[in-house]
Amino acid sequence: MSKIENLTMTNIAIISGSHREQGNSHRVANYIAHLLQGNENKVDNIDITKVPFWDEGLWGEESLAKKWEMWEPISEHLKISEALIIITPEYGGMASPIISNFLLIASSEEIGHKPALLVSVSESRGGAYPVSQLRGFSSKNNHLCWIPDHVIIRNVNNFLDEVNTGKESYTSKVLNYSIKILLEYATALGYVRQSGNVDYEEFPYGM
Ligand SMILES: Cc1cc2nc3c(=O)[nH]c(=O)nc-3n(C[C@H](O)[C@H](O)[C@H](O)COP(=O)(O)O)c2cc1C
Repeated sequence: MSKIENLTMTNIAIISGSHREQGNSHRVANYIAHLLQGNENKVDNIDITKVPFWDEGLWGEESLAKKWEMWEPISEHLKISEALIIITPEYGGMASPIISNFLLIASSEEIGHKPALLVSVSESRGGAYPVSQLRGFSSKNNHLCWIPDHVIIRNVNNFLDEVNTGKESYTSKVLNYSIKILLEYATALGYVRQSGNVDYEEFPYGM
């Protein structure tokens, strides 16, 4: 599969939510990073696997604050990103707790009104439930914008074997196409963020 080229430089954050060090979602993340690597893109594979579960330390409770120092570099990366690719394994018919926790912690200032491509990973024939879950329940407070296309990578081991030997499949084509569309949304939503109409002071949490 040929690399993805685009004319404008886009800052892309790739986030993988496997709970397993050698998880397939991380392997998919590395493959996507490889697809995007080129002169015109800046790609950051952001490691969120050590992010603590949310607690009040994130909101400044002093006795709990120390552990949240690790969020600072992640926050900085997110703030400069213009598009996100979020990869979740399907665990028990759900998005992984690491991904749900990330979407609880990441704020509008970090990911609000930025386009995100959702990639769901299954070792077998699953993968639809996390898409449904995250599309419905994940962006009210953080104002992330899931783009209309998503990618479900079923039989992920076969998928990775195929793409790593240069073989195309319907899934690999959908992935390439969706990333191209994501990059267009990156440009388009930049205008929304710069419009002066985004108001997180008065409307921080939606309805
Ligand atoms: C705790 C757990 C629950 C899982 N539940 C499902 C499931 O509901 N549906 C499914 O298709 N695969 C399920 N799987 C298998 C994953 O699809 C498989 O591990 C895949 O490679 C993605 O996860 P990974 O990134 O951790 O490797 C589960 C795996 C684990 C570890």
